[in-house]
Amino acid sequence: MTVESPFLTLGIETSCDDTAVCVLENQRTVLAQGISSQIEEHAPFGGVVPEVASRCHQEALLPLLRRTLEKAGIHNPARQLSLIAVTAGPGLVGSLLVGVMSAKALAQAWEVSLVGVNHLEGHLFANVAVHPSLEPPFLSLIVSGGHTEIVFVRSFGEYELLGETKDDAVGEAYDKVAKLLGLGYPGGPEVDRLAREGDPDAFPLPVPLEHSDEIGFSFSGLKTAVLWVLRRLEKEGKPIPVAHVCASFQKAAVASLVGKVRLAVLRSGVRRVAVSGGVAANSALRNALSALPGVEIFLPPLSLCTDNAVMIAAAGYNIYRRGFFSDLSLSPDPSLPLSR
Ligand SMILES: Nc1ncnc2c1ncn2[C@@H]1O[C@H](COP(=O)(O)OP(=O)(O)OP(=O)(O)O)[C@@H](O)[C@H]1O
Ligand SMILES: [Mg+2]
Repeated sequence: MTVESPFLTLGIETSCDDTAVCVLENQRTVLAQGISSQIEEHAPFGGVVPEVASRCHQEALLPLLRRTLEKAGIHNPARQLSLIAVTAGPGLVGSLLVGVMSAKALAQAWEVSLVGVNHLEGHLFANVAVHPSLEPPFLSLIVSGGHTEIVFVRSFGEYELLGETKDDAVGEAYDKVAKLLGLGYPGGPEVDRLAREGDPDAFPLPVPLEHSDEIGFSFSGLKTAVLWVLRRLEKEGKPIPVAHVCASFQKAAVASLVGKVRLAVLRSGVRRVAVSGGVAANSALRNALSALPGVEIFLPPLSLCTDNAVMIAAAGYNIYRRGFFSDLSLSPDPSLPLSR
């Protein structure tokens, strides 16, 4: 009797400012994972500096890879690994290059199959990696630093964009509001924390596209509305009630996201909604979506909301099982669309 060896995928994610590596067994069992965050390097600039990000990935990736393989008990990668899944886009080209070139070199040296993964398909798979019951068709709300969109997942690999933001992503709006308030970077978690102590009705702010019947988002006007509130308070010589401003901004941002999810559910008739991306960690959004009547909401644990390699490995495994893989001509595409 032969014992079938497990299918082990090495996941590599370097699309923005997190260097992440993991070893995934089949679709859901994480054997080891590691993340090297660059927050400290970018914080003085109040945002991600692309050149700094690429250099940090270059320094972090190989030591992180060595530690993660060791933790997963991979002593002979050429024999033990079945697949290398790497983020190929969208993202910062210099950051993507570090991951893609490293993955190609490793795939060639170890003679292991390679698959390039779309980062957004990765975010979508953060939920698949932890919810065995999540099968298409379902809707996916992706809310991150660079994207805000609702995708109809007809089947794995068949994605239809139902709506997206016309300007800023919601995570970007959180970061910009945090900057206006003099809070740290990234601003989302801090605004979320302070909002819990504030009054969401202190400053009535417009809910973006509230009265439009299109599935779409817009957050730059909301950010400007916050700026006007701050300017008015300043002019009146009043102190800035930071927690109240955070709570008021968050109320409008969350209402917009929840309203458009409700609309997408009504229009499509699909009642299962998976939420992912950094802003899926937001406490108010998680609560509001979970309270939607007649809708089944899937949320990843907080660690799989922001960028990580587990979601990339999970997507890569699924893509490979569907019969797709990449060859050594794989190159990063900063604006790779979500389609296959
Ligand atoms: N609790 C929270 N509340 C609101 N926003 C949050 C929270 N936690 C993280 N964020 C936001 O999530 C964003 C980071 O998410 P993520 O890492 O998925 O984005 P990204 O990888 O930079 O963008 P993309 O995936 O679109 O390329 C930041 O804008 C951050 O402020
Ligand atoms: Mg991301």
